[in-house]
Amino acid sequence: MRTRILLAGFGNVGRAFARLLVERRSELARAHQLDARVVGILTAHHGSVERAEGIDLPKALRLAEDGATLDSLGRAIRGPPIDHIRRSRADILIEVTPLRIAARQPAVDHMLAALTSGKHVITANKGPVVYHYRRLRDLARRRHLGFRYEGTVMDGAPVFNLFQETLHGPRIESFEGILNSTSNLVLTTMQAGGTYDEGVERARELGLLETDPAMDLDGWDATVKACLLANVLMGGRLRPEHVPREGIASLSPERMEAARSAGARVKSIARGWREGRIVKASVSNEAVPPGHPLFPVEGTSSSLLVRTDMLNAFQIVEWNPGVRQTAYALYSDLLAIHEGRLSP
Ligand SMILES: NC(=O)c1ccc[n+]([C@@H]2O[C@H](COP(=O)([O-])OP(=O)(O)OC[C@H]3O[C@@H](n4cnc5c(N)ncnc54)[C@H](OP(=O)(O)O)[C@@H]3O)[C@@H](O)[C@H]2O)c1
Repeated sequence: MRTRILLAGFGNVGRAFARLLVERRSELARAHQLDARVVGILTAHHGSVERAEGIDLPKALRLAEDGATLDSLGRAIRGPPIDHIRRSRADILIEVTPLRIAARQPAVDHMLAALTSGKHVITANKGPVVYHYRRLRDLARRRHLGFRYEGTVMDGAPVFNLFQETLHGPRIESFEGILNSTSNLVLTTMQAGGTYDEGVERARELGLLETDPAMDLDGWDATVKACLLANVLMGGRLRPEHVPREGIASLSPERMEAARSAGARVKSIARGWREGRIVKASVSNEAVPPGHPLFPVEGTSSSLLVRTDMLNAFQIVEWNPGVRQTAYALYSDLLAIHEGRLSP
């Protein structure tokens, strides 16, 4: 079956997904009878193009990696992206534009335009999901369309799939986790004697840094993820700007040293918990002692420790993910929709 994909965003994640499609083209056809073609790419400053037969992805990747525009790949798309999204004959919108902390943001409009014009939506963009989860989910349900967002938390590790599709029944009482790879990499670098700036540079080289680095370093990314888990998996109604948040940018060398001399490691910990009927969340820098389940989670690794009423406590760990693992989340969501599993 042919599936036409419209990609909104061709940065680190969009390109990694395109690489995966090129690499797995024959396997998708053989094992899943899926002929997935990217028929449009939207960017902010590097041109937006469409080609009904499918865009030449290896060429698109070469152009993007050279910083060139995509104009030569097909017909130029002019005007606001939402007009094109509505008009496009694509079957699926994959939304991977930058994270923004605001209820009003282009990515929400992209998703609403896709769903109201009959297209499935897959995203790794946390912003629209954290602010508009119920609206997007309900609209997709009413229209019998897919809405999947596995890549929004812990990249390719199946967090939403696990709780919403695989496990039925356990109620999450609380969670704590290391959810921002950049912060953890910077903290690990500093713990080993490197500087804050060296850690940030390593994250940039790996393609992990958000478009606006403050999203990672001021704790916004982890806060949005904590809210997402609280809202989607625990029925909360949190907005990131109302959640107590401490970024690693404000961490003093004295606090790092105090933790080190006590044999502990400073970690950026995202938490969610219940207080009666209310769900709460926070992100803070904490000294984690040896023996704690999050102590060994170093570098870009991330982990989620969940306490439930039926399964007791258990932990998901993703060792050293990169942008390829986020692309895998989009890939697995694509296969899920292809198989008729429209939501996690
Ligand atoms: N990087 C990761 O490891 C990672 C992991 C999990 C989730 N995510 C999420 O994935 C999303 C993308 O991240 P990224 O690292 O790929 O970002 P990125 O490298 O900055 O790429 C963003 C892309 O979106 C385009 N864009 C920006 N505004 C747009 C608009 N209004 N309409 C259409 N295109 C627009 C940009 O175009 P120009 O380049 O022309 O400006 C660029 O192609 C973010 O929401 C992020 O939170 C990222």
